[in-house]
Amino acid sequence: MKFSNAFLTRQVKYRLAGRFTLESPFSARRRVVQAYDHESGKRVALKQGSPERLGREWARLNTLSVRGVLPPTLLLPAMGLMVFPWLPSANLALRLLADDISPLEGLAVLKQVGEAVCHFHRQGVLHGDIKPANIIPALGGVLIDFTDASDIGMPVSQVIPCYLSPAFAAPGVLRNQGRMRESFDWFSMAVTLELMVFRQHPFSGKTILDISEHAWRSGHHCFDWKACCRGHEITPAEFMDVLDHCFHAVETRCAGVHQAEDASLPSAGVDREWSRVRTA
Ligand SMILES: Nc1ncnc2c1ncn2[C@@H]1O[C@H](COP(=O)(O)OP(=O)(O)O)[C@@H](O)[C@H]1O
Ligand SMILES: [Mg+2]
Repeated sequence: MKFSNAFLTRQVKYRLAGRFTLESPFSARRRVVQAYDHESGKRVALKQGSPERLGREWARLNTLSVRGVLPPTLLLPAMGLMVFPWLPSANLALRLLADDISPLEGLAVLKQVGEAVCHFHRQGVLHGDIKPANIIPALGGVLIDFTDASDIGMPVSQVIPCYLSPAFAAPGVLRNQGRMRESFDWFSMAVTLELMVFRQHPFSGKTILDISEHAWRSGHHCFDWKACCRGHEITPAEFMDVLDHCFHAVETRCAGVHQAEDASLPSAGVDREWSRVRTA
């Protein structure tokens, strides 16, 4: 049965549970809103959902304690709400869209998120939906939304969520084959990194399965997507190597700019830095 939540229609300033004042409204598409918690005196994020889904995410997050993953502070299942500390940044997808993140910050965020991914993989947990909209460039980089997290080793056919983001999903996930494995998250991390570096998706179809060789976007790539399509699975070491290479490219180019212009990077530097990474 579909869980329907009356708060979806509540407006800003509405006081929820006698405790939270909504600072942005819920809507059918917006399930996480900003609110003020009168009890703690802090700003929080309220996530709305069915008690089952929220309960799953709550239980999963409570088994993880790692920098880069935000623990929830409260679950109110009867109200269909979970409470998180509010992170003072738009998600990475929006920050990239607004051209509002520097290359070094973006890479550092992915490094911290990558380390968190290594950590929870060792605990047998797969995130399953890594993409820029689920990464918040605050606190050094936070991976959110463990709604679709699963156990490594489960049959893909038993897990595949209906909320799957196909543009970031590994071929094995899209083919609904085999077992859930670490490389699925690394594939999504790799697409995210490329999107950040080149500001465009590495393949032009909606998903990696849509494309044929001639549909690869022209130009440079950080990863060998053709090989990925043919079954190569990206490893954590490979991802971290590429990330380090990007760091090195940015740092080297920045140093060059500083020397040449004898000044810190100009405001248009974000774009410039990235275009230098692209050609490095
Ligand atoms: N703790 C938080 N602080 C600030 N914004 C958040 C927080 N959690 C989520 N968001 C915002 O809400 C959006 C949706 O959150 P998410 O947990 O991914 O839910 P959904 O399952 O609806 O995708 C995120 O993309 C992010 O912009
Ligand atoms: Mg999400």
